[in-house]
Amino acid sequence: EKVVLAYSGGLDTSIIIPWLKENYSLDVIAVCVDVGQDDDMEEVKKKAIASGAAKVFVVDAKEEFLTEYAFKALKAGAMYENRYLLGTSFARPLMAKKLVEIAHQEGATYICHGCTGKGNDQVRFEVGVAAFDPMMKIIAPWREWDIESREDAIDYAEAKGIKLTVTKEKIYSRDQNMWHISHEGGDIETLSNEHKEEMYMMVTPPKLAKDEESFVSVTFEKGFPVAVDGDAMGPVELLQKLNKIAGENGIGVIDIVENRLVGMKSRGIYETPGGTLLYKALTDLESVCLDKDSWALKRSLSEKYADLAYNGLWFTSLREAIDSFVDTLHENVTGTIKMKLYKGNVKVAGRITENALYDEEISSFGASDLYSHSDAEGFIKIFSLPTKIKKLKEDRK
Ligand code: ARG
Ligand code: SIN
Repeated sequence: EKVVLAYSGGLDTSIIIPWLKENYSLDVIAVCVDVGQDDDMEEVKKKAIASGAAKVFVVDAKEEFLTEYAFKALKAGAMYENRYLLGTSFARPLMAKKLVEIAHQEGATYICHGCTGKGNDQVRFEVGVAAFDPMMKIIAPWREWDIESREDAIDYAEAKGIKLTVTKEKIYSRDQNMWHISHEGGDIETLSNEHKEEMYMMVTPPKLAKDEESFVSVTFEKGFPVAVDGDAMGPVELLQKLNKIAGENGIGVIDIVENRLVGMKSRGIYETPGGTLLYKALTDLESVCLDKDSWALKRSLSEKYADLAYNGLWFTSLREAIDSFVDTLHENVTGTIKMKLYKGNVKVAGRITENALYDEEISSFGASDLYSHSDAEGFIKIFSLPTKIKKLKEDRK
């Protein structure tokens, strides 16, 4: 029998290979889904085989990750608990989908992942797998074995002859892709500790960022980012450009305490440089192109969308229905937002769109044909009627 293992090349998923062989007598097919984590995929392949995998696949899903996941969440304005841009959350369903595809192709009866029993990722993987194959059997070693710490894991690896490139010193638990990197564990588990800016991997700490202001503009077509500084480009190149310029300017770091699906709170540091610019720019373009009520309803759905993504409920008709709603509103959200970046800050520095509902002549302080100052008088009489009635009634008591 065969098992498909979600493989990263790291210590944890490497020791799972001999563990599966020993405890389940399965042939291990290692699958690494490339969502733009900064790893050498040739090395990852070699490591899987050296650790005892029968086969290894690397799936390039970078473009799909952006087009079908990250940019959908962006269009929906999804931010978990008002701040987290969900970079790990929506990567897991994509991985789950790829794991099931390969499991079917290779005739595997099990899927295995290296998530702990205390986190969100286990839920996202398993709900994602269930959406495509409800009968697939799952193995989650962290919920079974007695390896408790990094030290245990290293000892086990050494006993199984797996070559290590890590040290025993406790570092952060990290998850990286094109959209973001997360850091959890270690010294940030103590809330009174300020996080160390030296941990950053995508963003330059603001105090070390460049001393000049930078400008960048992003063009959206129907809510989807299509160009940077006027140059049309595909999603991968576009995000790389934005990550670079935002990162150099110290933009896109948050330090938050969040509520995990499994009930506990946890602290995380997230770097989402390019994504932070995209959210800022698209929100601003929406403010110009959407009418008040549509935008308000859309914003109320953003929170729902974020919860769905965070909780691993990506492959649901509710999520798809919100996408459709957003796509309809975004028919009119086309234009360019110019931004000014400086030492961790980003400000909008220009809005160019032919789809604005803003009208300079109407909004300006001068006179216009459509609306004159005196038109307001009757409106205020009607608008203030309930207020007047309430006060009159109180006075008569
Ligand atoms: N807390 C974040 C989330 O739930 C990040 C999880 C990071 N995962 C990891 N395996 N390091 O989306
Ligand atoms: C893990 O526990 O495996 C990572 C963190 C999370 O899933 O929330």
